[in-house]
Amino acid sequence: MPIDVERARAETPGCEHVVHLDNAGSSLPPRRVLDAVIGHLELEGRVGGYDAHARNEEAIERFYGATAELIGARPGEVAFCSSATRAWDMAFYSFDFERGDRILTSVADYISNYIAFIQVAQRTGVEVVTVPNDEHGQVSVEALRERLDERVKLVAITHVPTNSGLVNPVAEIGAITRQAGIPYLVDACQSAGQMALDVDAIGCDALSATGRKFLRGPRGTGFLYVRTGLLERLEPPLLDMRAADWVAPDRYEIRRDGRRFEEWEQDYAGKIGLACAVEYALEWGVDAIWERVHASAECLRALLEDIDGVTVHDPGAVRCGIVTFAVRGVPAEQVKAALAREQINVSVSATTSAVIDALERDLPDLVRASVHYFNTDDELERAARGVHRAGGSR
Ligand SMILES: Cc1ncc(COP(=O)(O)O)c(C=O)c1O
Repeated sequence: MPIDVERARAETPGCEHVVHLDNAGSSLPPRRVLDAVIGHLELEGRVGGYDAHARNEEAIERFYGATAELIGARPGEVAFCSSATRAWDMAFYSFDFERGDRILTSVADYISNYIAFIQVAQRTGVEVVTVPNDEHGQVSVEALRERLDERVKLVAITHVPTNSGLVNPVAEIGAITRQAGIPYLVDACQSAGQMALDVDAIGCDALSATGRKFLRGPRGTGFLYVRTGLLERLEPPLLDMRAADWVAPDRYEIRRDGRRFEEWEQDYAGKIGLACAVEYALEWGVDAIWERVHASAECLRALLEDIDGVTVHDPGAVRCGIVTFAVRGVPAEQVKAALAREQINVSVSATTSAVIDALERDLPDLVRASVHYFNTDDELERAARGVHRAGGSR
């Protein structure tokens, strides 16, 4: 069933105020998510945080079932986290890297992931190998296969980068990491909520995502998936009384499910809100969402490419809802500000957010317009006219 855009907009209060093309930054939550979050906070205000937790236990626990359904996992393989970065970190820093080991990653991997790679490389001597791209500008599966030897302790790939419409071929990579028996961590922060994700189809062992972007959940929420089998072998870098039991004066036992990666203290309003957002996405259907997001992004690229002086910079055989472009002679921040004056939200992908990719493609800072299924064609045309005007002022 195609998306009923009118209904989606009626259920999204923010649509009355802005043309929101920053869904890769932080999307507009639907009314249902807002009500769930505010409702829990108000309950906390009335009866106190602990009692509110007890009363809303069922709504809180729905997070696990909904998230598992979204990615084709089991509820016990999922952890609630405060962000995609923390989720990814909890998996990544659980591995014991040693000098001589290698991590394979992608050119356009996320800034915080690279910072973690560099830190762990400096601490342990592990070598971080950036797998080159293929002719489409996505991770070369062949080049990755050639580098997959006994030194490789982890393959860590970003599905959709922060700074372009690229969709990396994560399932093709998963097929070969599985065959080689090498753990595979996927950063699905920008893909969750805009396209279908199935951890078995991808063949990954761990996957991280955030709530506030294409899933349309609250800020300060995210999740981690770790596959049964690897889960019990990964000791989280941080443990607390949520993750482990203190069983003797000098001994603890780590819990056996995904919650070993969680913190004891959590944003329960956010967790309820994220559960609600995931259920909402499942109700629309992720395939229907992807169909519309994909078509709208291609439509926006075509509108932008028609404007003199505008260059679209999205590589990849498949391109998603993130549209990145530059306007000749006009800094990205200036384009963003001009659009903001017309209530059109976009963001800027600075070269510093993807240093290797920016160097390889010789990129300037880019304007990033990210569409969702509630955006109309009229909004895309308004945005293109705004970009045209911003370019005209150069
Ligand atoms: C590819 C990618 N990974 C991870 C993150 C981090 O997400 P969070 O801010 O929820 O930690 C982002 C955020 O923009 C991202 O684009």
